[in-house]
Amino acid sequence: MTFRLANRIVRLPEQFFSGLTRRVAAFQQAGHDVINLGQGNPDLPTPSHIVEALRDAVLDPATHRYPPFRGLPELKEAAAEFYRRTYGVALDPEREIAILVGGKTGLVEVAELYLEPGDVALVPDPGYPDYLSGIALAGAEPYALAITASNGYMPDLEAVPEAVWERAKVWYVNYPNNPTGAGTTAAFFERAIEKARDHGVLIVHDFAYGAIGYDDHRPPSFLQIEGAKEVGIEIYTLSKTFNMAGWRVAFAAGHPEVIEHINRIQDHYYVSIFAAVQRASVAALRGPADDIEALRQTYQRRRDAFLGALRSAGIEAPSPQGSFFCWIPLPSGVSSVAFADALLEQAHVAVAPGRGFGEHGEGHVRVGLLAPEDRLVEAAERMARFWARRF
Ligand SMILES: Cc1ncc(COP(=O)(O)O)c(C=O)c1O
Repeated sequence: MTFRLANRIVRLPEQFFSGLTRRVAAFQQAGHDVINLGQGNPDLPTPSHIVEALRDAVLDPATHRYPPFRGLPELKEAAAEFYRRTYGVALDPEREIAILVGGKTGLVEVAELYLEPGDVALVPDPGYPDYLSGIALAGAEPYALAITASNGYMPDLEAVPEAVWERAKVWYVNYPNNPTGAGTTAAFFERAIEKARDHGVLIVHDFAYGAIGYDDHRPPSFLQIEGAKEVGIEIYTLSKTFNMAGWRVAFAAGHPEVIEHINRIQDHYYVSIFAAVQRASVAALRGPADDIEALRQTYQRRRDAFLGALRSAGIEAPSPQGSFFCWIPLPSGVSSVAFADALLEQAHVAVAPGRGFGEHGEGHVRVGLLAPEDRLVEAAERMARFWARRF
């Protein structure tokens, strides 16, 4: 027997990178020494004090019961404290913070909450592909805001047609940006808030790489900007800041009504997250800021080692301001998919083809700084030899 799949599921975009993941696995199984820099999965372990907090919590039978629907109050308090300490932003833990089962889930929920068929959601291009998932589920349309080197990786808001602003209901913003590594400025957020206010658009700032800024760039929080809470929310995941990608914990902060709506939809989907994981997340958010600084420095050393090796072989690439990605421009006319395929086949280095992040990602590949420095240098050397043979 077959069952007719609902249209909203049929509409879901193909996972562009699942083919790459399979190909990497096939080369590894064939015994090749593949350096996999194609994904965004942090390679370092969660700090031990967080793991120990989980172990202690799991031994307490109180955590084995259903947690409160909307999450542990102390986790929301810890998130509010974290924002106060890190960004000087005041948040009411109960009204302005919602616990999420990972940031990805929150991004989809916002689309389900606010988009109807015929509505438009603004997305960065290139950008994180999962913004498109919630938009497709809601039957709405994405409108790509080009962010390229030529506009400093910040969209030209004046170039967006009035008719698009009128239909736009949700606007996904992401700095430090995956995949380009670009940072942003308070001035851009101010302009975005003005536009959002003028057109009644909800800004969702995805701050997944908030802790990872390089040199003197310290990524600003959207919520630090006057008026942000009136037009939007920020999604902060523990995945990257604390190497907790597998734990599935994040939170949304900002506009109280949006937070209430997120909680409302989640009342139907979940009974929050395992309480032991929530207690460990409290330990993460209240933990030493030094751990976060050490992680930032690790990625900065990796960035410098990788780009240093690439540049000394004559390949030019810009330095990212944040995130753990390098965004490498290819020689003109070269397809990013063909390049990534051949690089994997011939040099056993996996990178993500820029096309997978949108039309404006073409002509680039994304390299994740998710291996030790010596492996990154080795990857750069293999890439440079491959490049020299080909171009
Ligand atoms: C830009 C961006 N947003 C959101 C996420 C989702 O993070 P998580 O669902 O682990 O919180 C990721 C993960 O790679 C990301 O790169």
